[in-house]
Amino acid sequence: MESKLPDIGTTIFSVMSALANEHDAINLSQGFPNFSIDSRLKDLVKKALDDEQVQYAPMPGRLDLREAIAGKLFVQHGINVNPNTEITISAGATQGIYSAIAATIVLGDEVILFDPAYDCYDPSIRLHGGVPIHLELEFPNYNINWDEVEQSITPKTKMIIVNNPQNPAGTVWSKNDISRLEKICEAHPSLLVISDEVYEHIQFEGNHESVLKSELLRSRSFVTYSFGKTFHVTGWKLGYTIAPATMTTELRKMHQFNVFCVNNTMQAALANYMSSGESWELVKPFYTKKRELFLEGMKQTKFKPLACDGTYFCLYDYSDISNENDVDFAKRITKEHKVASIPVSVFYKNQTDNKVVRFCFAKEDETLNSAINNLCQI
Ligand SMILES: Cc1ncc(COP(=O)(O)O)c(C=O)c1O
Repeated sequence: MESKLPDIGTTIFSVMSALANEHDAINLSQGFPNFSIDSRLKDLVKKALDDEQVQYAPMPGRLDLREAIAGKLFVQHGINVNPNTEITISAGATQGIYSAIAATIVLGDEVILFDPAYDCYDPSIRLHGGVPIHLELEFPNYNINWDEVEQSITPKTKMIIVNNPQNPAGTVWSKNDISRLEKICEAHPSLLVISDEVYEHIQFEGNHESVLKSELLRSRSFVTYSFGKTFHVTGWKLGYTIAPATMTTELRKMHQFNVFCVNNTMQAALANYMSSGESWELVKPFYTKKRELFLEGMKQTKFKPLACDGTYFCLYDYSDISNENDVDFAKRITKEHKVASIPVSVFYKNQTDNKVVRFCFAKEDETLNSAINNLCQI
C-alpha cells in the first residue's frame, strides 16, 4: 500500500521513552506529569460514573462543560463566548487542530508555522494537500521574526499556526506579537489563524496574551486548549476549540465524522470540577514551584539555560559539555547518566541542531532532584 506520509517514522518521543525504560533512566523526555491529580476531580469522575454518565455526549460536547468553559473565559479575559455556537469539545487539542486544518486547507494552500514546532501541525497540513511553510524562531531567544513572516505571505497563504506558550521553546508572547499578527491579518483579510494555547495556564510572568483578547484576531482564529495539560490528565485526551460561529460550523462537520463526540464521563466530571471550586487557578502556582526547583538545581550543572517563561519544558544548551549532535547526546546521557531528554532538532523540518535538549519538569520533586543529581555528574 502506498503511504500517505512516507517520511513519518517512529516519533522521538517513543524512541526516548523506550530508551529510558531500557536503561532504567529518569524520563524527562515526554511531556506528561508523574504526580497525582486533584482528589476532587477523581471524586467527580466516580460521581459521573455513579450517575451513569456513560452514553454518547452531544456531538459538540456536553452543554454544561461548554458553559463552564464560557464562564472561565469570561473570568479570565472578560470576553463572551457563545457555548452553543463557538465551543467544540475534542479528543485533545490534537483533534481540534486536525479538524480545523481539515475544515479549511485544500490542495496548494500554504500554511506558515514556526520551527521548532509541535509535531502534529505539519503532517495534518500535508494530508489535506496543503504546503507547510516552516519559518525558524530566532535562536537563542526563540522569538518570531515578524518581518520574515510578512515577507513569506503569498497569494496562496491560507493560514498561520502559532503556539503560545511555545513547546518546545518555552517562550511566551508579548503584546507586540499580538499587534504584529493583527497588522498582518489587517493586510490579508482572508488569512486564518490556528492559535495553539494548550499551555495558557503555565506562564510564569505577566499575562497570557491570548488571541481571543483581540477582536480582530478572534474573528478569524481557531483557538485550541487541552484539559490534559491544564488538569494533569494527558491520558484523557480531552480539549476544546473556540472559533466564530461560521468557522465552528465547518469545524464540526469534520469533528462529526471523525469522532462524532468524545468521552462523556470525563466531560461530566470536568464540567462539575470547573464550576464548583478552584480548578485552573491552581495550575500556575503549582508549576511555578516545580520550575524554581528545576532551574535552581540545574545551576549546579554545566548545562546553560535558555528561555523558560512558559510550558512545563525547559531548553538547555549543552555546547560546553559536548560537540555531539543533539540526538546522539540525548541518547548517550540517557544510557550513561540515566536522564532522558528530547533533542530539539527533531522539532525542525531541517533538523537544525543548536546543541539544545528539552527537559520536562512536570514531575514529582523527588524525580526532579534525582535527575539533577545525575546531570551534575556530567
Ligand atoms: C503545543 C502542543 N499542542 C498540542 C498538544 C496536544 O494536546 P492534547 O494532548 O490535548 O491533544 C500538545 C501536547 O503535548 C502540545 O505540546
